[in-house]
Amino acid sequence: MTLDTRNTKEAWWVPFYDDLLAETLLVREDPTEVEATVDFLMRILELAPGSGQRVLDQCCGIGSLSGPLAARGFDVLGVDQSAAYVERARRDTSAAGQRVNFVAADASAFTAEPACDAGFNWWTSYGYAPTREHNRNMLRGAFRSLAPGALFALDTMNLAGVLRAFQEEVVVQRETPRGLITMTRRSRVDLASGRLLKRWTYEADGEQLAVHDTSLMLSMPHELGADLEAAGFRVEAYFAGIDGASLTLDDPRCIVLARRPA
Ligand SMILES: C[S@@+](CC[C@H](N)C(=O)[O-])C[C@H]1O[C@@H](n2cnc3c(N)ncnc32)[C@H](O)[C@@H]1O
Repeated sequence: MTLDTRNTKEAWWVPFYDDLLAETLLVREDPTEVEATVDFLMRILELAPGSGQRVLDQCCGIGSLSGPLAARGFDVLGVDQSAAYVERARRDTSAAGQRVNFVAADASAFTAEPACDAGFNWWTSYGYAPTREHNRNMLRGAFRSLAPGALFALDTMNLAGVLRAFQEEVVVQRETPRGLITMTRRSRVDLASGRLLKRWTYEADGEQLAVHDTSLMLSMPHELGADLEAAGFRVEAYFAGIDGASLTLDDPRCIVLARRPA
């Protein structure tokens, strides 16, 4: 049966952030990549191992990074709008013996108390709101949740790199508890709105399981920097990836490091 969510009145993201997306995108296949991500975050966010520093994982999904960070000795607070993902994150981290505090909330409205010593927003969770001003509220939520002097990393797409090697179709196949799932993403850029429009189709055994449409605000790195500054942050650096390389026109990814002024 096909579950077509395009005409429902429910918030668009409720059916989109489902088990199929979790299994094909959020479950990390490569544990060494997770550890390298945690190393990178610790380095740029000035986190000392075992310090118990309080770290905000804004839009934490199923806790794919919250758990491994907690295992390094941090007091991690994961926030995600999806109650189902938060429930799964709690279950998975506790099964792995990791202690993490998860909250189901809209990150734009949420404020951590007490404030966190550092924070991050990972893997293109920023930009799905309808306008740039709406999107900035998520960064304002991060700003409010951090202590003065704290660092924050925003990981999303670099418009320049996305356009340079534009992929109209991406197919991902994953072995999941439901069997082999094929996810096909067809993308186009709407030049009038500057948004990346994607249709996500999931199939198993030749049967269509679900179809979702998404619309993501695309940004050049300097626009992400301006968004962070509008929220009160001061931008410190731009990276192309977790190897810490400098950004170029060819990099599809952009990680912006910013600080809440002391
Ligand atoms: C692509 S996933 C990334 C999840 C996680 N950061 C990771 O690296 O696995 C995007 C996540 O952002 C969450 N998200 C998007 N907008 C949000 C909002 N306004 N408040 C809280 N969570 C949000 C979604 O529910 C989803 O779990």
